[in-house]
Order: sequence, then C-alpha cells, then structure tokens
Amino acid sequence: MCGIVGYLGRRNAMPIVLEAIKQLEYRGYDSSGVAWHSDGKVLLHKKKGKVSSLEATSILDEIESNLAVAHTRWATHGTPSDVNAHPHTDATSSCAVVHNGIIENYESIRQMLMKRGIRFETETDSEVIPQLIGYLYKGNFLRAVQRALPLLQGAFAIAIIHKNHPGEIICVAKECPLAIGLGQNEMFIASDSHAFLKFTRRVIFLRGSELARVTENGVQCFDGRRLPISKETEDLEHAAVEISKGNFKHFMLKEIYEQPQTIQNAYLSRFSEQYGTAILDEISLSDEELLKIQRIVILACGSSYHVGLLAAYMLEEKARIPVEVEISSELRYKNPIVLDNTLVIAISQSGETADTLAAMRELKEKGAKIIGICNVQGSTLAREVDSCLFLRAGPEIGVATTKAFTSQLIVISLLTLRLARMRQMSQQEGRHYLQALIQLPQQLYSILARVNDIRELAKKFAHYENFFYLARRFMFPIALEGALKLKEIAYVNANGYPAGEMKHGPIALINPNCLSILLFPDQDEVTFTKMINNAMEIKARGGVIFAVAVEGTKDIEKIADALFFIPRTKDIFLPILSTVVVQLLAYFIADLRGAEVDQPRNLAKSVTVE
Ligand code: BG6
Repeated sequence: MCGIVGYLGRRNAMPIVLEAIKQLEYRGYDSSGVAWHSDGKVLLHKKKGKVSSLEATSILDEIESNLAVAHTRWATHGTPSDVNAHPHTDATSSCAVVHNGIIENYESIRQMLMKRGIRFETETDSEVIPQLIGYLYKGNFLRAVQRALPLLQGAFAIAIIHKNHPGEIICVAKECPLAIGLGQNEMFIASDSHAFLKFTRRVIFLRGSELARVTENGVQCFDGRRLPISKETEDLEHAAVEISKGNFKHFMLKEIYEQPQTIQNAYLSRFSEQYGTAILDEISLSDEELLKIQRIVILACGSSYHVGLLAAYMLEEKARIPVEVEISSELRYKNPIVLDNTLVIAISQSGETADTLAAMRELKEKGAKIIGICNVQGSTLAREVDSCLFLRAGPEIGVATTKAFTSQLIVISLLTLRLARMRQMSQQEGRHYLQALIQLPQQLYSILARVNDIRELAKKFAHYENFFYLARRFMFPIALEGALKLKEIAYVNANGYPAGEMKHGPIALINPNCLSILLFPDQDEVTFTKMINNAMEIKARGGVIFAVAVEGTKDIEKIADALFFIPRTKDIFLPILSTVVVQLLAYFIADLRGAEVDQPRNLAKSVTVE
C-alpha cells in the first residue's frame, strides 16, 4: 500500500506535498517521488528510499509550481528502484500519475498497449494507468480518465495531472481511501486526511468507485457510471497533532511509554464502578439486541488478529458467548455463514486494512451487525461499521503496533464486561473486574520503571537466531504477539506456540542455541503446573528459558535461565502487563541489532491492498 497526495492552489506546491507525503510514510517507504506542472510541461523527480533521500538531492528546493502530486511507495509489483518509483508518466510525458492499490489486469492492458507501439519503462502495474490515459487522450482530460477507468480492474486510488490542464487534478478512488481537503482557493488530496489537517479540516471522502475533478475553486464528483454526484463536506473534529519523538530514540519506544496513559484514555468514562459494568454509548445496538447475541465472529489481521484471539478467551470465559476468530484475508473468500443474532467485531488500528474491510463488507452484505474497534476517526472502517469503539490512543507512528494493541485489549475487556453483566456476571464480580482494570496503568508504570532490567536481558539474548514464545490460555495470544514483534522489527526467526503443542513437533528445534520465552500465568491458575512441565521438557533438551512470571511465584528461579516478574492482577488482565515486557524486549533486541525500528523493511502500518 502506498500514500498519495496532491496540491493545487496559489502557494508553492512543492513544500506542501513533501510535508504531506512525509506524514504518509507509515504507509510504505520503499521509494518516493513528486511530479509538478511547469510551463506547459509535467516534470518529475523520484528516488528509491524515503522522502528524506528524495529531498537530499536538493533539486526540489528551486522548484516553484502551484500544482503537484507526490507518492511514497510500498512495493507490490516491481522491485524498489528509482525507475519503479512513482509518479509514472505516459510515453509522451503528458500526464503523471500517483497510485495506491493494485491493477490486477495490468499485464493484459500492457500487452494491448505494447501491440499499439507504446513502450513501457517500468516493471510496475501502475504504469499502465498513465499509458492508457495518454493513449485515450484526445484533448479532454476528464473524458480520457473516464474512458480508461472501466478497463482497470482491482482496488486503487489515483491522482493525475496533465501538461495541458494546469488548473486541475483528477483523482479516483475505487475501494481505496482518498480524501480531498477544501481550502481557501486551494485544494489538497491525500490517502489519509491527517496529511493535510494542518491546512484544512473541511474534507470530502471519495467512496466506493468515485472520481473527482479538482480545481482551485471547487470539486466536481462523478460516480462509477460517470454521472455527476453531490458529495457531503465533513468538518473533522480532530485537529492535526504535531507528532514528534520527544526525547525518545524511536516512536515505538515513545508509544510503549505512552501506554499507562493510553490505557486510561481507552476506559475513561466508559464504566460505572457503582453498577460494576461498562458504559459503551457508541454501540447503536439496543440492550435487547445485545442480549440476543448467540455468536460472535471477530475478524482482523496481524497484531489485531492476536487481540481477536484474546478477545475470544475473554468473551467465552466471562460472557459465555461462542466466538470464532477469523483472519480477514481467509474469511473474505470463505463464503462465511451469518446466522441471526451473530455479532461481528472488526478490529483494525488503522481502519484501512483492505483484507479486514473486504471481509467486513462481505459479512455486512449477509446481514451481520458490525462493531468496529479502531484508532482512526474518519477511517473507512469507522465510516462503514454500525458502531465504532475508538481506542483514543492518538496517532500511532511506529509500524509495529504497541499502544494501539493494549488499547484494543482494554476496549475488548469493556465490551466483555458489558455483555457478561447483561448475562450471568454479578454486580460484585463486575466491580472486582473494574478495580483490577483501573489498576493497570499504575502496574504498567512499575514495569516501565524496571526497563533497564529488560534492556540487560535483551543484551543477553540479542545474539540468538531462533526464539520460541510459549504460553497457555489467556497468555497464548501474547506469545504470538511477542514472536511477531521480534519478526517485524528485528528480522529474527521467532515463533509463538501454545506451550502444550510443543511436544507435538516444534520441540524438535529446541537446543542450546534456541531461546524459549515462557509467559507464566499466576501460580493459582489452572495451567500453571502445565507450564512448569513444558519448561522442564525444554530444559531436558538443553533449551534456554526466559520466564515472565507473576510476582511471588515460587521456585521459578530453579527452572528459568532469566526471569522478569510482573505485578499480580486478574488472569484476564495479565496479558496486558506481559505484552509490555515482550514489546520492550523486541524493541531493545532490534535496536541492538541496528534495525530501523520505526520503519522495518518490507512492512507498512496498514496495507490497503488485498
Ligand atoms: C500491518 C501492520 O500492516 O497491519 C501491523 O504492520 C498490523 O502492525 C496489521 O497489526 C493490521 O493493521 P490494522 O490497522 O488493521 O490493525
């Protein structure tokens, strides 16, 4: 997935689009580029790597233009290179295109145009867009784009400028996000509105399959059948927030440290201790409808999927409702069964992950009621679900999620409490549940206060090339998350497993060069002794163990080669405390190995292509 922006107005477009595209670098940073209009020509400058390497060439410092588009890339077709970087032009350099998404039938269009003598410069799918528009252009820019669109298959968002049309940008959204910012005699275009929030909060969101012809003084919108449509202008409440690392070396570390606060934000004014229940006014379903729920389907990707797995344990244990957790990209093509009284929960930090959006739409079409759990106001998911529970975690910049993950867990804990209190959970039990929940920020501070211990452990472990994360019940999804974090940012082979599953295969990999990280529950918890047995099985094969255990756990020192204690709390909330330990461990190992922690290779903050 990529980020695209555009500017048209009276100011110099270059500094504006460069500033805006940097805001979208979380969407991909394999290459970047800009195209601008100048004296009847469309010129461009593009480079492999981040926007910083584009700017480093200082070519752009001298550029003055009131019309420009820019791009930051997450490569899908064609290796990251200067040539494959966007923008792309047609063979006569008449128009330039920036594209987010995938043109699935690009090969046949390419062949068709090559037969007509069109020469292609790049390996990308995107280049077929300007080449097709260039081929169809007969003087009417809008018409050429409208004639090209029906030939393009896939989900995409594009912005196009043309040398003969210095006063307009044409942009198209087809199942991919695109926002148009309305300023005073100037217009902004971006994949995500926060890229231009600094300049305007008046926004038009293109949806479904829509096209917009943007000029300095206005926007004309058309639907997929080329019919003019009027679009609502939304005033976004949330303002642009200056996002800086402060004194932290990386956004990821800063966001880990924000968690005591973001956890509080997630539950503030969302519970009543007196009634021992959660108050979730954002949910539009009535109490009757919530009481009738007989099945819950959760869909998500990546770390959000791990939150979904933990949600299933919570909801089944506390609310006694059967839960299925689905990986969105699989559910999408599974022809899912939606029975009456099925609640769907779609979890996505960004609210833009294409797999989750597609799966959500599939279930919605089948009549399911959808609750979204999301961190981005104005995101596609937030706008399409029946109710959205926002995380209130603030923008998350680090590509590997941290604070959004624990905030998702808090929101899920509140939803669990709400549904459980409507069923068999007593007011007293509800109160105890909330008392444990509101202690979490303080307990997190106590873990962060011992960050040096985790940094020292990371120094001990950073040389390992193979890691197992093992746990049971509520802690198992955190074992998966811990392993994913190490894979994502330190590029190390790490696998999360239910501890009981080790003996059915993976234990074959245990040796003194493999580190096993065991996440222990409280020693009173039913699986504690089973975890001890699993630890003994690993020790018996010369494996090395780092144990994360609850304060006061006895005799664990005898088994573990390294140990970190976390504060005691309810078994349902222990995963939130152990999450911060595995986040910090992955962070320090990645930093010690010199990895680009905030923008790991090959990843993007959320992926808007299937
Ligand atoms: C990936 C991110 O692209 O998408 C992960 O790198 C994230 O951190 C996953 O968990 C799902 O994203 P979202 O926004 O749908 O929660």
